[in-house]
Amino acid sequence: MNTKPIGLFDSGVGGTSIWKEIRALLPFENTLYLADSKNAPYGTQSQEKIIELSIKNTQYLVNKGCKIIVIACNTATTNAIDILRAQFNVPIIGIEPAIKPAALKTQTKAIGILATKGTLSSALFHKTTNLYASDISIVERVGEGLVSLIEEGKMNSLEMAELLKLYTKPMVDSNIDYLVLGCTHYPYLIPQLLKLLPKKVSIIDSGLAVARHTKATLESNNLINNENTIGKNLFYINTNNTQTMSSLLGKNRKVEYLDF
Ligand code: SIN
Repeated sequence: MNTKPIGLFDSGVGGTSIWKEIRALLPFENTLYLADSKNAPYGTQSQEKIIELSIKNTQYLVNKGCKIIVIACNTATTNAIDILRAQFNVPIIGIEPAIKPAALKTQTKAIGILATKGTLSSALFHKTTNLYASDISIVERVGEGLVSLIEEGKMNSLEMAELLKLYTKPMVDSNIDYLVLGCTHYPYLIPQLLKLLPKKVSIIDSGLAVARHTKATLESNNLINNENTIGKNLFYINTNNTQTMSSLLGKNRKVEYLDF
């Protein structure tokens, strides 16, 4: 049982930022990652569609014997996690924007949040902001177009630089000192964002917290793989973006096309 893989899915290549954190913390675990790039971005789709896609991905991973599912996608988490937990009999880990740590640390009492429309409009997002950040100013911005450019490998394009400038300007004008990345694709934009933002602004994403939560859940469910050999990692994508995904993963990791 414990050698069974950790299953991860995302709307595309962005969830590899989460996979890297999990891999660093749990190197002996086997993993299976699904990149549903064919249906990216999830963030502009209806909640019904996001739920349908999330169920399909989870079903595939469960059928492959995954012992735990990590939803490596903020939009799928905020819109579908309750339904997935009710339907599937394995632990399900989700990812939410790191609003709580930013709200606790901010000195200027202003934080920026960059996420998809699907995440920012979700009930879970509103619940979290009301709970942890009701007394601070939150400058939200939908990162329209960013996921598609990342899926195409255009992180360093002029178009990307212009969009990021446009999206962060109101945040900088509002004197934010923390920027929360609410989409697992966005950590791949940190170098570009650091060039644009004033030095006092720290960027927070949820990758390490998700990896720690995954480890703790495996431990409490007695699901840790106790073999002392480096885990096997399978990566599947349902478009021809295998090269982009492989270069994001680094180390010449093999990514295979799969029509799931
Ligand atoms: C998207 O597919 O729109 C982004 C995925 C995410 O929210 O992490």
